[in-house]
Amino acid sequence: MEVIKTVKDMQRRADKLRLAGHMVSLVPTMGFLHEGHLELMRVAKKNSDKLIISIFVNPMQFSPTDDYDEYPRDTEGDLKKSREVGVDIVFMPSIEEMYPENYQTNVHVEKVTRHLCGISRHGHFDGVSTVVCKLFNATKPHLAFFGQKDYQQLTVISRMIIDLNMDIKIVGVRTVREPDGLAMSSRNSYLNAEERESALCLKKSLDLAGQMYEKGERSPAAIKEAVEALIKRHPFTEIDYFSLCDPVTLEDVQTLGHENLLALAVRIGKTRLIDNCLLRKT
Ligand code: PAF
Repeated sequence: MEVIKTVKDMQRRADKLRLAGHMVSLVPTMGFLHEGHLELMRVAKKNSDKLIISIFVNPMQFSPTDDYDEYPRDTEGDLKKSREVGVDIVFMPSIEEMYPENYQTNVHVEKVTRHLCGISRHGHFDGVSTVVCKLFNATKPHLAFFGQKDYQQLTVISRMIIDLNMDIKIVGVRTVREPDGLAMSSRNSYLNAEERESALCLKKSLDLAGQMYEKGERSPAAIKEAVEALIKRHPFTEIDYFSLCDPVTLEDVQTLGHENLLALAVRIGKTRLIDNCLLRKT
């Protein structure tokens, strides 16, 4: 497994891979790899013959009040896990390499960034789309893999790909959960034992909403009321948002149709967690 630290070296290596006829995939990450990332890598490996992952904690997608400094990091562990999965190249640039002096460019996706996480995390998706665009330019992949847990991120990147005519196929990969249902996230490591218990309210909310939808409930307000009551029964919780929306535009819907996205963000103590599911007629 190669570790590459500069954009120039990465671009040269990517050119060689493409010239040699390889199908190249990228899994962008911020490190502290967990089973969710490993699943992305496994799926990517099955669908390509050279797998690049990037490890870069991107300061541009954190606001000053976010957890950039505390964000968990474990380079040694990440390299070991990557080797075990069979990653070919780890691209691990420094901040100076990604944002050199006098850096002043921003990729901004308009409408789909206005909802859900975009409401409380100003500028977050500009940071994401900008860094992902730069990672694509550095690694030149044919395919890139993103987790469906970050549904809005996947939507924003897919929009950017279409709008900027990027010749990359974006693949969404299922959310990987702990045995009790909690979606895997690097931020789960912030939770103490009691908070960890309360964090189950996210998956329970999705299940409750799913059951109500299956029984024929089509009122977002009724589902919202039931979910809010459920979450309030769990200590340390504060809802950031709960949305039943169109899975493409991410705009709230007045009545549930054949396919709807349920997305929510809940603070558990100081940790903000997100989860989502599709409510669809089978
Ligand atoms: O999902 C993440 O870990 C990050 O947002 C990403 C896509 C690696 C960009 O920094």
